[in-house]
Amino acid sequence: MENTGINTKFRFDHNRKVRNFMCGIIGYTGNKQVKDIVLDALTLLEYRGYDSAGMAVSVPEKPTKIIKCAGRVTDLRKLCESNEIEGTCGIGHTRWATHGGVSDENAHPHKSGKITVIHNGIIENYSELTRKYDLQDKLRSQTDTEVVAAVLAHHFTGDPFMAIVKTVSEIKGTFSLGILFEDNPDTIYAVRNVSPIVAAFCDTGALLASDVTALCKYTKEYFVLPELHVAELKPHKITVYDLNGKEVAPEYITMDWDVTQSEKNGYPFFMEKEIMEQPEAIRKTIMPRIRNNLPSFEADGIPDSLFTESKRICVVACGTAMHSGLVGKSLIQSMINIHVDVVLASEFMYTNPVIDEDTLVIAVSQSGETIDTLEALKFARKKGAKRLAIVNVKGSTITRECEQVIYTYAGPEIAVASTKAYTTQLAAFYLIACRMAYLKGTFDEEKAESFMRELQKVPAMMEKVLDRRDIIHKIARKLVNARDLFMIGRGLDYSTLLEGSLKLKEVSYIHSEAYASGELKHGTIALITEETPVIALVTQACIVLKEVSNIREVQARGARVFLLIKEEYASSVTDKFEESFTLPDMEDDFMVMPASVALQLIAYYVSLDKGLDVDKPRNLAKVVTVE
Ligand code: AGP
Repeated sequence: MENTGINTKFRFDHNRKVRNFMCGIIGYTGNKQVKDIVLDALTLLEYRGYDSAGMAVSVPEKPTKIIKCAGRVTDLRKLCESNEIEGTCGIGHTRWATHGGVSDENAHPHKSGKITVIHNGIIENYSELTRKYDLQDKLRSQTDTEVVAAVLAHHFTGDPFMAIVKTVSEIKGTFSLGILFEDNPDTIYAVRNVSPIVAAFCDTGALLASDVTALCKYTKEYFVLPELHVAELKPHKITVYDLNGKEVAPEYITMDWDVTQSEKNGYPFFMEKEIMEQPEAIRKTIMPRIRNNLPSFEADGIPDSLFTESKRICVVACGTAMHSGLVGKSLIQSMINIHVDVVLASEFMYTNPVIDEDTLVIAVSQSGETIDTLEALKFARKKGAKRLAIVNVKGSTITRECEQVIYTYAGPEIAVASTKAYTTQLAAFYLIACRMAYLKGTFDEEKAESFMRELQKVPAMMEKVLDRRDIIHKIARKLVNARDLFMIGRGLDYSTLLEGSLKLKEVSYIHSEAYASGELKHGTIALITEETPVIALVTQACIVLKEVSNIREVQARGARVFLLIKEEYASSVTDKFEESFTLPDMEDDFMVMPASVALQLIAYYVSLDKGLDVDKPRNLAKVVTVE
């Protein structure tokens, strides 16, 4: 490829704030019918959240065929059945609308001249480009993506690569683009800035996708397209170029997921399957990190100095991942006596965080793509902080923004509500806390070994909760009609409930608040009536008596209390409850694990009994790449 001579660098300020959205992308070129592969992959990408779907198929010497609609992949499938679509090279897309409403016309792909485009991201200067190329009356949709297609068409004079480079040098924003040129009917082009694209070979051809979940059915080896590089996919060859036309060797990664992990395997919903998978996911996450009965991050390539030289720790994350950080904070502060902040990634920049070269910033993320967490990390990098990621998806953007990574081995998490990713994140914090305590001398060898023995009991204790899930279902049945609900607890129990409450909110649409029990009297108890069920969690010796008093306070205001209590403490609480569930005994510090499983099951069964779409709650997307 010739040097393009086009200066593309000045257009991109990587430090500015970025926004993009959560669309799914797939592309295939090979010897199989592309329609089937695209539909299957789009189904696998459904979990990302979307409102329209579409595909484009190259047809030699004919116009590219486009089929798209607002609605589900099943709607697209039906459209495909009633249309003749033959071809072995094509692209597919699920759209989560931000720019232009939900309509057939706004669904991707978008075509201009001989060029067809799918896009994940936001083109910030679309109106400037619309004016520059006089597109006002020519565009059929309200999307920024169609503008990209038009700019590509403007620059296309026979060389796809040059058209892409010229277009990329003009567009501002975040994008991953899959592009078909009619004159090259067996080739797909891709380019990206911030928004991810992965690519791979499979037995029958070459694939590209917005995330590995779409690929795991076809291959285990893939690479992440570097930012501002162009991939050219042909059935037998994938070539990557930088924007100067220099060929670059992609870095292949091996995925440790298999296709059965992305299927429901007989469960009605992924959420249930993923809850049930937790004991195994915890085993996979902790066992490779135990050497001589002590925690070890040697296999992760993490030097002990990362833990010994840090004076402060700051955890940045969103939603469930942030809740795992709250538990990590309690553990680390109590075991090592080092200060830990846990900051919502979306608030990080606005809190003037005190971080420097002595700070270890730990970013926690299932997807590894959450834009707020990524932005917080970029900020931390500028401040010179060390950065460690706890992430589930190999090679994801957040892992590349950190010097060190601890992968959770939860496998693909498809349900929007995070369950196994959360508890494996917790497992990572238990390992970190113990390693730090051992290195810093606050735990001697014996104590560290005993802590690790207890950690290894977690899967069995989770199984004990799962085995009695019918009792939890009984509790859930009594909550189905609640409009508002409170969850109360203290200390670690409060952190656990924050996550339990988020779970219930997102899958059941019940307004649920986790409250620190001691804080109720300072205002919130005014909301407690016989209409507001209360879930109380009691697993910590130091709070049993105080918590019982707080429970009596809400009962005195008419609340029906559902008690989750560590078995050991159950006999000391003789009050009457609407329902109670005993959690298997572990050391108090570990009770968050069985308690979380019980709370996840409550949320799941309430949603199930309400007849909701458990895996795809309204308004939510699995991968949140919008600030
Ligand atoms: C979990 O149930 C949520 N859907 C959500 O809070 C999630 O944990 C959050 O968006 C962070 O995602 P990440 O772990 O992929 O960064």
